[in-house]
Amino acid sequence: MKQTVSVKNIGLRGVTVADTKISFIDGEKGILIYRGYRIEELAERSTFMETAFLLLNGYLPSTKELDNFENQMRKNRELPDYIYDCLRRLPMDADPMDMLQGAVPLLAMVDPDLHEDSRDANFRMAQRLIAWLPAVTAAWHRIRNGRDPLPPDTTLSHAANFLWQLTGTKPDAEMARYLDCCLVLHADHTFNASTFACREVCSTRAHMYAAVAAGIGALSGSLHGGANARVMAMLLDLESEKDLAGWVKDHIDRGERIMGFGHAVYKTMDPRAAYLKDMATKLGKSKGMEKWDRLSKDLERIATTEFVARGKTEIKPNVDFFSAPVYFMMGIPRDLFTPIFAISRIAGWSSHVIEEKFAEAQDKPMLYRPQAEYVGNYCGLMGCVYDPLTARQEQELS
Ligand code: SDX
Repeated sequence: MKQTVSVKNIGLRGVTVADTKISFIDGEKGILIYRGYRIEELAERSTFMETAFLLLNGYLPSTKELDNFENQMRKNRELPDYIYDCLRRLPMDADPMDMLQGAVPLLAMVDPDLHEDSRDANFRMAQRLIAWLPAVTAAWHRIRNGRDPLPPDTTLSHAANFLWQLTGTKPDAEMARYLDCCLVLHADHTFNASTFACREVCSTRAHMYAAVAAGIGALSGSLHGGANARVMAMLLDLESEKDLAGWVKDHIDRGERIMGFGHAVYKTMDPRAAYLKDMATKLGKSKGMEKWDRLSKDLERIATTEFVARGKTEIKPNVDFFSAPVYFMMGIPRDLFTPIFAISRIAGWSSHVIEEKFAEAQDKPMLYRPQAEYVGNYCGLMGCVYDPLTARQEQELS
């Protein structure tokens, strides 16, 4: 017997599954808050290291606390040697997000705290992952280009050291500051798909590395973190397009998505996009690459006008729309845009894993286990078919 009920996958939209003290989004007003602080303030005045401490601990560190945190992070930058051997055995054309997801369980195997499920042990695992993900990404990029990985430079900031290990050039202060700011902006975003994947996995009492590997997998999707690389592919395709408005109309008419536009929560412009839009203008000028800044703003204006004309006034640029030209103008390879998203979001993921595991008693059970409406068939081999209708009647009668 075929069930007639059909439940569209609502994507858990508007469903609250737990409390969190880590971040908050006001989708109507375009506001993002990390542990009580507006993202604009942190982007302007904080650093990624300080923001990571804030997300993990729930308060801004004293100078001494931040020094201790940063010193430990610098010590953690060294990768275990066997990781380089493993990276060298990978197919050189592997997708960097697949490489990154594959590296996480390999790193877990050498974490001395892996099976100690205390808050302090998880904090130390978070510090290793925040230091190791950029190191693995940079090492992989050099190995796939036939070069040796570079040792970390403990005199450089977290962002500057990543650019050094990636490119072999010590970045100037402006570039390092721009990347650090991007890492602050991408660090957390409440229960987005990859963060919820991490929380779901660790709700089974799996360790942090298992959760983060799931988060990286979720982030790689084109509707989530994978969008930034696709925004840049779109801009490169449109470099010589003479009729942008016509292209936008045809693209939407064909049911295609304008990458970097729209959001499951924001009904106005993503505050991170507003910040990155300004950064793209400054970078365009300092790099003499204004054309990418102009093209992205032309596309923003034309696409926004088209969405309004179609009554979709809530579809605005999201974080990926302007991070793409920013990373491109920084000289970062396009297929590393999403790994950079992960290098930042690891601060949020690890904070959510710690909250999921150790937050004071919540009225939610530990394990996430949603329901599903069965709309399949009922069959029987010997004619004894389960009939939900009579089964319910028998249940009511009993
Ligand atoms: C991130 O959740 C987070 O917080 C994520 C993130 C984070 O920091 O973790 O903010 C990072 O993932 C940002 C989003 C990056 N993805 C993209 O830029 C891909 C393009 N955007 C879309 O695919 C879309 O906007 C989503 C997936 C992001 C959100 O879409 P929703 O809320 O699930 O809405 P929907 O897909 O059901 O679309 C509703 C309507 C549809 O039209 P109809 O079928 O009703 O006619 O809006 C249309 C969609 O076609 N629409 C778009 C569009 N986004 C929505 N049409 C064209 N281009 C788009 N970008």
